[in-house]
Amino acid sequence: MSELDITQDFIQVGNEKFVLYLSEAKIQERIDQLGEEISKEYKTKLPIFIGVLNGSFMFMSDLLKRINFNCEVDFFKLSSYGDEKISSGKVKMLKELNADVTDRHLIIVEDIVDSGLSISYIEEIFKDHNPASMKVVTLLSKPESIKYKVKIDYIGFEIPNKFVIGYGLDYAQKYRNLKSIYVLSE
Ligand code: IMP
Ligand code: MG
Repeated sequence: MSELDITQDFIQVGNEKFVLYLSEAKIQERIDQLGEEISKEYKTKLPIFIGVLNGSFMFMSDLLKRINFNCEVDFFKLSSYGDEKISSGKVKMLKELNADVTDRHLIIVEDIVDSGLSISYIEEIFKDHNPASMKVVTLLSKPESIKYKVKIDYIGFEIPNKFVIGYGLDYAQKYRNLKSIYVLSE
C-alpha cells in the first residue's frame, strides 16, 4: 500500500497502530520558543547548525526559519537503526561533514536522543577538530532509555520510552513526511 492518509489522528502500519501524540501546532509552538532561546545565545557567534540526517531534516528546516542572525548550515549522515524499531547499537558515518569546524561554534541538531549513542559518537568526532564550542539541540528526548552519558542543551519535548514516527522520524524509512508525531499504541 502506498497511500497514506495524513488527515487522520492515527496511522495504521500493518497490524500496528500509531496514534497522534504531538500535533503540528504543538511542535511549531515549541520550536518558536527554542528558536528564541538559541537566538539570544548565538546572536554574535556565527554558529554552524549541523543537522544529523535523515531524521532531523524537518526540525532543522523549521528551527532555522526562526533564527534571526547570520549562521551557517551543514549536514552529515549517521545510521544506527537499520530498518528496525530498536537500535543496532552501532553507529556508522554515511556522509561526512563539509564544513571546517575548528574554532567554530557548533549546534548539533537531532530529531531524537534515545540511548545517546549517536550523540556520544558525534561528540567524540567533533572534539578532535577543536571547535570553539558545541551544543546539542534535539526535538525529542527519551530520558528513560538513555545509556550513554551525554549533555543535551536544548530539548523540545521529553517523551516516554515508546516508538514514535512522523516529522522526520521513520519506521523502516517511511512516515518521515507526516507533519505531526505519532506514538505506537499498545
Ligand atoms: P540513539 O543513538 O540511541 O540516541 O538514537 C538516536 C537515533 O535513533 C535518532 O536520531 C533516530 O534516528 C533513531 N530513533 C530513536 N528513537 C526513535 C523512535 O522512536 N522513532 C524513530 N527513530 C528513532
Ligand atoms: Mg537521527
